[in-house]
Amino acid sequence: MKVVHASAPGKCILFGEHAVVYGYPAIAMAISLKSTCIIEELNESKIELVLKNFNQNYEFKDLNEFFINFPSKFDQIKHLFKIIHERFNTKINKIKLTLSSTLFPSSGLGSSASISVALVMAFSVYYNLNLEKSEISKIAYELEKIVHGTPSGIDNSICTFGNVIFFQEGKFHFIEVSEDFRILVTYTNMDHNTKLAIEQLRDFKKEEKKFCDFVFDRIGFYTEIAESELTTGDLNEIGNLMNINQKLLAALNLSNNTINEIVNTAIENGAYGSKLTGAGLGGCVISIGKEDVLEEISQILNSKGYKSFIANIDKEGVKIE
Ligand code: MEV
Repeated sequence: MKVVHASAPGKCILFGEHAVVYGYPAIAMAISLKSTCIIEELNESKIELVLKNFNQNYEFKDLNEFFINFPSKFDQIKHLFKIIHERFNTKINKIKLTLSSTLFPSSGLGSSASISVALVMAFSVYYNLNLEKSEISKIAYELEKIVHGTPSGIDNSICTFGNVIFFQEGKFHFIEVSEDFRILVTYTNMDHNTKLAIEQLRDFKKEEKKFCDFVFDRIGFYTEIAESELTTGDLNEIGNLMNINQKLLAALNLSNNTINEIVNTAIENGAYGSKLTGAGLGGCVISIGKEDVLEEISQILNSKGYKSFIANIDKEGVKIE
């Protein structure tokens, strides 16, 4: 019986979130936590779905029943089935699909993009569609639009290609960053909602267009400097740029007390820099510094009730296990 097991990494935005939605550059790093999608062939004519993180199992007698009864909160998966069925003329049946992720959901670590990318890769291999990574990323972008409204495309790109990327207006190139580059990722214990954060900022931009354009412009400026600092590996300077980026994001009302508390704790205890990552208003905070310092900060944050882990760069992107 045929089995395909695909995985895709999560991500952190190092610089430039939100401004990237308006055409400015951003830098993202793929991290070693991942989402996995397993497709197994079944003997019987049915479609089974196991959504491990939601603790939910579904069974449908055929694709028709799946389209009618599969809950709309999983529209991302529904839409992919539609694409595979209609665009690639493939008859989806006799499969069990199991999805799981080690990424905290709604945390800014790209769980939805990494699930989309792993799903597309698994279908591509299972049905011999031979999709290139760029095609996988494009389809995942279509799915991301369903979840996030008007995403920039950075999340699906980084989860597909891995490494560290400099992204602007749909195009990207890799940045060579030292193998031992580490960041501390701390969860605020608050879910964030990318779609809502983008909408909130869009409304603010309608009221304060000049101010927002100015802040986006500054974010873009520092993101470009950050690219060269990442290449030379000057952690101190990268940290300073992260601190500036955090202040600019706070000026756009994307920070909150919890994010500020984590950022301040990290800085007071020796981090070179700290900022929110992703949509903000919750989700995760990233901090950089020497590895032993990051470990100490992690323990201090843990004693304050915040879970954190040290992430390194995922070099592979989406792959078949
Ligand atoms: C999402 O990881 C980062 C945002 O900039 C949205 C996007 O780029 O699509 C907030």
